[in-house]
Amino acid sequence: MQKVLKFPNNFLWGTAIAAHQVEGNNVYNDWWDWEQKNSKIEKSGIACDHYHLFDKDLALAKNYLNNNAIRISIEWSRVFPEKNRANKNEISHYKEVLKSIKRLKLTSVVTLHHFTNPLWFSKLGGWEKENNGKYFQEFVKLCVKEFGEMVDWWLVFNEPNVYVGEGYLKGTWVPQKKNLFLTAKVFINLAKTHKEAYKIIKKSYPETKVGSCVNFTAFKLNNILSRMAVNIYQRLAELSFFYLTRNFFDYIGVNYYQAITSEDFLEEDLTDMGWKIYPKGIYEVVTNVWNRFQKPILITENGIADAKDTKRQKYLTDHLVWLHKAIENGAQVKGYFHWSLIDNFEWAQGRKMRFGLIKTDYKTLKRIPRKSASSYAKIARENAVII
Ligand code: BGC
Repeated sequence: MQKVLKFPNNFLWGTAIAAHQVEGNNVYNDWWDWEQKNSKIEKSGIACDHYHLFDKDLALAKNYLNNNAIRISIEWSRVFPEKNRANKNEISHYKEVLKSIKRLKLTSVVTLHHFTNPLWFSKLGGWEKENNGKYFQEFVKLCVKEFGEMVDWWLVFNEPNVYVGEGYLKGTWVPQKKNLFLTAKVFINLAKTHKEAYKIIKKSYPETKVGSCVNFTAFKLNNILSRMAVNIYQRLAELSFFYLTRNFFDYIGVNYYQAITSEDFLEEDLTDMGWKIYPKGIYEVVTNVWNRFQKPILITENGIADAKDTKRQKYLTDHLVWLHKAIENGAQVKGYFHWSLIDNFEWAQGRKMRFGLIKTDYKTLKRIPRKSASSYAKIARENAVII
């Protein structure tokens, strides 16, 4: 017997992308600079050339995937290539992008910071200096003034926990520091800046939803000590961003990909990144966040690196079945954004990792929908998962 799991009316079905990973030629940011200096990592180059092909990509989201929403990001270093000079052409560019989103009647979720900073900002000490938050606030003010009419949900910071974890704790990403003190300091500065950004946006657009998103991991560990450690980790590195910014967000963005477990996983339950697939984790994370904060939730990312597209369809369905359960149990989830619309530049892993519902042929820049894309299209059209 078929079971139809209906999602709430007006549920947002979308995909997520981020400027540096898709646009190409983001030459004024710190990640680009790092790419040029570090021979061990791939260069983003023209990435997916989404900067020129955005119209086509957005049309695929609407017409091929039947989506009613999209999550994009505005590249700070394009808008402010220099400290005190906003680039008018880039402002016009993002206006065109947002107009295209509106023409397609897509709800827009717009990220203001997705890991990259203008190089000049990094040279001034970046997020290590509390006082530097003022530069980001200038960017927020400008974005609100120029794009505010066309933005439905603002997302201030993407995964502050991953940003500090990779860049300041493990030292695997720019600025490659391994310093616990700076990790905490930067994290706190991001939280402070989030609050300021919230105030700036709400002053002009009191009705617009403002939030940030954090990367949540599910844990399945069997000994008591590791469970205690996890508890501390979750409070310090995941939930803490929302404790620090309490009363300054209208929703919580949840990015969920994987579990950390003490069990060995079979090859079929691992993604190309080696991440452990654990669909119930989305239920656990959402339920936990809902119980603690009672704020609407957006799944701002969930997805899988799966070049052969043999696991994506099941990954998607299984996660949505568990998400549906969380909603049935009372969690207010307003939308789901799959990572990602198209294959894109996966940071330190480069182009090998294929997260797209739609394949990017990097030679021709052609977009080729994968089989899993039609499953997602059906789910979005029916506003339901049928199992
Ligand atoms: C990030 C994306 C990234 C994805 C897959 C998230 O942590 O926000 O930029 O591509 O995970 O690794």
